[in-house]
Amino acid sequence: MLHRVIERVLEAQAVWADPLGKLFVAIFAALYKPVPIIKDLLNGVWLGHPLHPAITDVPIGAYVVALVLDLSGQRSAAAAAIGVGIVFMLLAALAGYADYIDLEGKTQRFGTVHSSLMLVALVVYLVSFLMRLGAVPSSTEVWLSLIGFVIVITSAYVGGELVYNLGTQVDRHAWRGGGTKWTALDVTDVPSDKPVKAKAGAQTLVVVRRGKGLEALHDVCAHQGCSLAEGKIVGDTIECGCHGSRYRLRDGLVVRGPAVFDQPHYEVREADGKLEVRRTDTR
Ligand code: FES
Repeated sequence: MLHRVIERVLEAQAVWADPLGKLFVAIFAALYKPVPIIKDLLNGVWLGHPLHPAITDVPIGAYVVALVLDLSGQRSAAAAAIGVGIVFMLLAALAGYADYIDLEGKTQRFGTVHSSLMLVALVVYLVSFLMRLGAVPSSTEVWLSLIGFVIVITSAYVGGELVYNLGTQVDRHAWRGGGTKWTALDVTDVPSDKPVKAKAGAQTLVVVRRGKGLEALHDVCAHQGCSLAEGKIVGDTIECGCHGSRYRLRDGLVVRGPAVFDQPHYEVREADGKLEVRRTDTR
C-alpha cells in the first residue's frame, strides 16, 4: 500500500523530471560517450559489478558518522566526516551518471528524481561543510547536515526502487541456471559472420559462424535485455544494438559496457546434420 502511494508520487514527478532527464542525458552522454574507456571504468565493467552502488555506501556511512559526532559535540571530526562524504558523493555521481545515460522511460524518470535529490543534498552538505570551516560554531551547520541526511536517505530509497523494483543494472541472467545437457537448435544453416537467432529448448540464443567453428551466446543482452541477434559482429565480439555492450563470442566475456555482467556462453557441435548446444558455465 505504502509502496503504491510512493510510486504514484514518483510518477507525478514526470512533469519536471522528464525534460530535466533529457537535458542530463544530453550533457552526460556528450561527456562520456566519446571516451568509452572512461564510461566502462565508471560503469564497473572492470569490476564485474556496477561501480555506483559500491561507492554510495561511503558517503552514507560518512554522513551517519558526522551525525553521531555532531551529537557528541565533536564538530571538527564531524566536518572531516562530511568532507569525506562530499568527495565520495561526487565520485558516486560520476559513476551513477554513466549508468543513467542508458536509461529510458520510467527508469530514466526515477533516475532523474534520484540524482536531483542527491544534487540538492550535495549542495546542502557543501554549505554545512563550508560553514564548519568558520571560526564560530553554530547550530545551523548541524541542522543543515541533518536536512542533507534526510534528503540522502529519501534519494537512496528512490535509487533502491530503480534496482529492486525496476531491475536497473540487474543481470538479466541472474536466475538462469547452467546445465550440461546437449540440446538441439532449431536451425541448421548459419551463414558466416552473421548473427542468427535460434531456439534451444526454452532458451533463445544467438549463433555465429566464425570460420569453420560456431559460437553461441544467450540472445538476451545482460544489460537491459535487447536481442543480440539484432546487433553486429565487431572483431571477435558481438555488439548489442541498443547501448553498445560488447561480448566476446568465444566465451561471453563482457569487454565493453554498459553491461557489467558476462553473457551466458554455449558450445556448439554439429552431429548428423543437426546443431546442438550446451552451456559452458555452470553457475
Ligand atoms: S540492452 Fe543495453 S547494451 Fe544491450
